[in-house]
Amino acid sequence: MNDNLLIIGGSGFVSGTMARRAVAAGWDVWVVTRGQRTLPAGVHAIVADRKQTGAFAAQISAAMKGAGIERFDLVADCIGYDVDDALQDVAVFRDRARQLVFVSTDFVFDPVHRHFPQGETSAHYLPDGYGGNKRLCEMELLRSACGDMSWTVVRPCHIYGPGSLLGCLPTHGRDKQLLKRLRAGEALRLVGGGHFLQQPILAQDLADLMLGMVHRTDLHQRIFQAAGPDVVESVAYYRIIADIVGVELGVEELPVGEFLAQNPASASFLCHRIYDLGNLQQAALPVPATPLRTGLAQQVAALDAQ
Ligand SMILES: NC(=O)c1ccc[n+]([C@@H]2O[C@H](COP(=O)([O-])OP(=O)(O)OC[C@H]3O[C@@H](n4cnc5c(N)ncnc54)[C@H](OP(=O)(O)O)[C@@H]3O)[C@@H](O)[C@H]2O)c1
Repeated sequence: MNDNLLIIGGSGFVSGTMARRAVAAGWDVWVVTRGQRTLPAGVHAIVADRKQTGAFAAQISAAMKGAGIERFDLVADCIGYDVDDALQDVAVFRDRARQLVFVSTDFVFDPVHRHFPQGETSAHYLPDGYGGNKRLCEMELLRSACGDMSWTVVRPCHIYGPGSLLGCLPTHGRDKQLLKRLRAGEALRLVGGGHFLQQPILAQDLADLMLGMVHRTDLHQRIFQAAGPDVVESVAYYRIIADIVGVELGVEELPVGEFLAQNPASASFLCHRIYDLGNLQQAALPVPATPLRTGLAQQVAALDAQ
């Protein structure tokens, strides 16, 4: 019998990529969304708003009953952002899933107290905001009684690939016009000249990593950094894209201090984001391996095809 997977989300960038990878690999895939976007082919749809907890649990129970599923082999929470979401994961899936994978972020770390490369543990996490709230979700999982459900957290850094926009650094993060700008010969305005290091992870590789966690109850309560194989300066990321489209890259450097003073919320982007993947290797998980250039070429082709 095929393994079955339930994704919270399933039509977004990360969650949709995971759904497609799982369907292609022969999983039975269930996705929970509000039904506002087109779903990947081959998935079973559950329409529910996770913010309406009672209805969310009832819809999932009804779907499980209809399909004769006692427990999902794997549940992936791709859209957990607040403590309430982590609490909901435990309450709803403790008796409905064998394993939960929760998508956190590398923005849990305080950007001014990082190690290079950064491992999974730190004495300095952000207390609030997007990254701080993801850390609160991790802590909620750590303190929860999960019964027979095991859980594992992944902390991706910049995720790229088909299904998303290009750009990993202000002022050209997820820039809708990036290819147009490059082709028009426009210089990119990069904070710090783009010298911050990055280790982008291809969404397909992240999906395969999470799918590779199924039946791994030994990974209970483990948190893993998730990053790609290539460590590059952010400016090199843009140079690769320019090279793929066959143009020269021009860069205008924006002073870091000035930019930060005006955009304090961007602090987590303005630090080196490089990670120790030793724990993924030691756990014999599928370590992300697609070269950055290969993944970016796929993303450029997907954007040009739109
Ligand atoms: N992008 C990055 O570089 C990066 C880096 C680190 C971590 N992450 C993490 O990656 C995840 C992003 O996932 P994604 O790319 O799939 O997100 P996304 O593109 O924003 O898609 C959101 C998905 O969730 C569904 N959804 C939204 N609100 C919902 C609700 N209240 N109830 C049920 N379904 C709902 C949406 O469908 P409907 O609209 O139809 O409901 C859609 O399927 C996040 O956890 C983020 O923190 C991202």
